[in-house]
Amino acid sequence: DMTKMIPAVTLYNGAQMPTVGLGTWRAEPGKASEAVKVALSCGYRHIDGAFVYQNEEEVGAGIHAMIDQGVVQREDLFIASKLWCTFHVPSLVRGACERSLCDLKLDYLDLYLIHFPIGMQPGDEMFPEDENNQIISDGSSFLDTWEAMEQLVDDGLVRAVGISNFNKDQIEAILNKPGLKYKPANNQIECHPYLTQEKLINYCHSKGISVTAYNNPQLLFTFKYPTILAIARKYKKTSAQVLMRFHTQRNVAVIAKSATPHRIKENIQLFDFELSEEDMKTLLSLSKSWRGFPAKWASKHKDYPFNTEY
Ligand SMILES: NC(=O)c1ccc[n+]([C@@H]2O[C@H](COP(=O)([O-])OP(=O)(O)OC[C@H]3O[C@@H](n4cnc5c(N)ncnc54)[C@H](OP(=O)(O)O)[C@@H]3O)[C@@H](O)[C@H]2O)c1
Repeated sequence: DMTKMIPAVTLYNGAQMPTVGLGTWRAEPGKASEAVKVALSCGYRHIDGAFVYQNEEEVGAGIHAMIDQGVVQREDLFIASKLWCTFHVPSLVRGACERSLCDLKLDYLDLYLIHFPIGMQPGDEMFPEDENNQIISDGSSFLDTWEAMEQLVDDGLVRAVGISNFNKDQIEAILNKPGLKYKPANNQIECHPYLTQEKLINYCHSKGISVTAYNNPQLLFTFKYPTILAIARKYKKTSAQVLMRFHTQRNVAVIAKSATPHRIKENIQLFDFELSEEDMKTLLSLSKSWRGFPAKWASKHKDYPFNTEY
């Protein structure tokens, strides 16, 4: 049984988050269901989605097709979604979560993340801009948003809540919040050999916050990077597999998106080899603080996370 071979990262609530998950961003409606079905049939149990990806209905349809066929059961799955920036006003949080649950046709999520620390004006626009093409803030504080996230746990809509794209100071602000009820269970961040995130990962782990790494399509350029290719050849693996295995050896979960069946399968074949300490060091040494996903659209927002060291 393939799924028995996929290690998990333990969240502080005791939940097991499989270290490899299927990303669903840019999985076009029409392809998303199929990708999820292929993934679940070949052993994935962790699906990473978000309201803003605009495909949660299709993702849910894929999940339910596999449940109906008896391939998986809901309790074996780890399903994550994310609160979009236009729903940070505390009174909007529950409705946003219910919308994702409704689209996915699920009665709970395993993990619900604040997608970015950046609150944006509520409304139909996912990226509300003023006449100077600047993102319009909603004036909210993510500390208040966090309280509404905590309520989702108490109300049984989600098993755990977390954050994404938060920097150290922002995490610290949550941890130091008077009356904090639940600390974040996870921080989902960009991470790869060009942005190794040692300090942020160490900080999160020291506080009992698990980390999930997302890559970026632009990272594919590194597939041609000779160092990574040489390591891949040595283990008779692909560069993508080396890039993903790198995370699992740091007790970091990794999500990769593919809508291509053979690549979906490739991306979970990570547990029949182990990168040597030396190869891990080599991969870490490629770090150059290169960010493929700088979220420039929000760079003037008061809570833009990427101007600090980490
Ligand atoms: N929290 C956040 O702010 C945030 C930001 C970015 C991403 N994410 C999450 O992280 C997931 C992954 O990030 P991502 O989608 O940006 O990038 P990614 O997974 O690194 O790359 C996806 C691209 O790589 C291709 N690909 C996948 N596996 C491959 C392989 N083995 N060999 C060659 N090409 C391969 C895919 O093509 P095909 O589909 O054509 O196979 C797709 O074009 C997202 O889907 C999303 O769930 C979160």
